[in-house]
Amino acid sequence: MTRQLMVAGNWKMNGTQAYTKEFFAGLDALPDTAAELLICPAFTSLQVAVDEAKKLSQSLAIGAQTMAGADNGAYTGQVSAEMLLEMDIKHVILGHSERRQYQEESNAAIAEQVAQALKNNMIPIACVGETFNEREAAITDKVVTSQVEESLANVPKETNPSQLVVAYEPVWAIGTGKTCDAAEANRVCGLIRKTIAGMFSDNFANGVRILYGGSVKPANAEELFGQSDIDGGLVGGASLKAADYIGLVEAANNVAAQPAMCGV
Ligand code: PGA
Repeated sequence: MTRQLMVAGNWKMNGTQAYTKEFFAGLDALPDTAAELLICPAFTSLQVAVDEAKKLSQSLAIGAQTMAGADNGAYTGQVSAEMLLEMDIKHVILGHSERRQYQEESNAAIAEQVAQALKNNMIPIACVGETFNEREAAITDKVVTSQVEESLANVPKETNPSQLVVAYEPVWAIGTGKTCDAAEANRVCGLIRKTIAGMFSDNFANGVRILYGGSVKPANAEELFGQSDIDGGLVGGASLKAADYIGLVEAANNVAAQPAMCGV
């Protein structure tokens, strides 16, 4: 089964509307690509990003960084699927480790958000990954497996697997400059795929895209994206500068040009 590479940028709490305009103005040299391109700015910059992305000759989707698990109602500060869809936003990062840590989001809450996204025909990017202490304690596999099982617990069996994206983001590699070794990142992404196969089917698991995230930059992206079970990246710091984002897309293109290395 062919899986389309994805180059997803997670801007976190960075990027005003003015910054967003500047970023998109810098994407002139964005190459043609078969990869799916995605940038996820803060809520306040989403509409500007949607408008700017429309001016590009390449297709580049805009996504949100979180979303409520409920339809609407008394959830102060939350944003619903309906509100995002009104802006043409279909992608949403869910359960990022910073939300798990600072907003204390549980696997159960993330499972509701994932189900909500799928119910609304959106594309959730569900994040999992172990902390430094968990890796040191040699419980990476156990932690990641249970995060996958619990966060995807409400995914309906009839879901089209191409609509579901999982991001493996070892917490110790996020924003630290310490990238996970490509072979080890691929091993854990393979474990995630095996876990999904156990929950659904081999066929389903082979259609789900699994991204790696954690200090991805243009210089290491090709090696990571070229791994058999890695279908692209969820990128923080290096997605904030247009030139770096272009470098990530070029890396994805280089991988696509070498079918033997490609995870398809
Ligand atoms: P980073 O962040 O690329 O800056 O390490 C990745 C992420 O948190 O999604």
